[in-house]
Amino acid sequence: MKHEELRAAIVRTAQEMTRVGINQGTAGNISARIDDGLLITPSSLPYDRMLPEDIVEMKFDGSWEGRRPSSEWRFHRDILADRPDANVVLHCHSIYAATLACKFMDIPAFHYMVGIAGGPDIRCSDYATYGTQALSDTAIIALKDRMACLLGQHGQIALGKDLDAALAMAIEVETTSQMYYQVLTLGEPNIIDDAEMARVIEQMRRMSYGQAPND
Ligand code: 13P
Repeated sequence: MKHEELRAAIVRTAQEMTRVGINQGTAGNISARIDDGLLITPSSLPYDRMLPEDIVEMKFDGSWEGRRPSSEWRFHRDILADRPDANVVLHCHSIYAATLACKFMDIPAFHYMVGIAGGPDIRCSDYATYGTQALSDTAIIALKDRMACLLGQHGQIALGKDLDAALAMAIEVETTSQMYYQVLTLGEPNIIDDAEMARVIEQMRRMSYGQAPND
């Protein structure tokens, strides 16, 4: 995709986050890999006013041109550098994912769809101040072998091979978080064992069901 098309697609995806109800206000941010760096949403600009030319081009060394990039550019840059299987990083403050993250809860295999992120759980990172290298470092750990994680006392990060896949992943994480929150109100959840989750994840890979690392 040409850079101009990609800029427009990032803006559409950012606006779609609000439309589907997984983000509020100027929270959240999106980046997409380009040849020698990334395109990323600017900091603190409402999505309904964001134009393709507001999207910031950054290099992997952290330099940029134009508007100030998202305050979270470090984790976007570091994840894209660390994860050749992802071309898009999407961050949002979806309510149920953020609720579980406020209690530092990993999501275990209470439902088979947890496997959509590529493993038998969706981890929650430690807390670190927004916009810091420390937050990037803890996010990378929580995302190991996964396409999504919760961010402690903050929100979620979803990865994708493209913008649509990352948005779909973020919606799945939010739906799964809501289900888990509700199941917990009914008592101890039933957990699917690791052998069955391995079968589920293998089946998802074979059927291209969502996406998983190394696809
Ligand atoms: P930015 O507007 O700087 O992208 O920050 C929003 C956010 O969600 C910080 O975590």
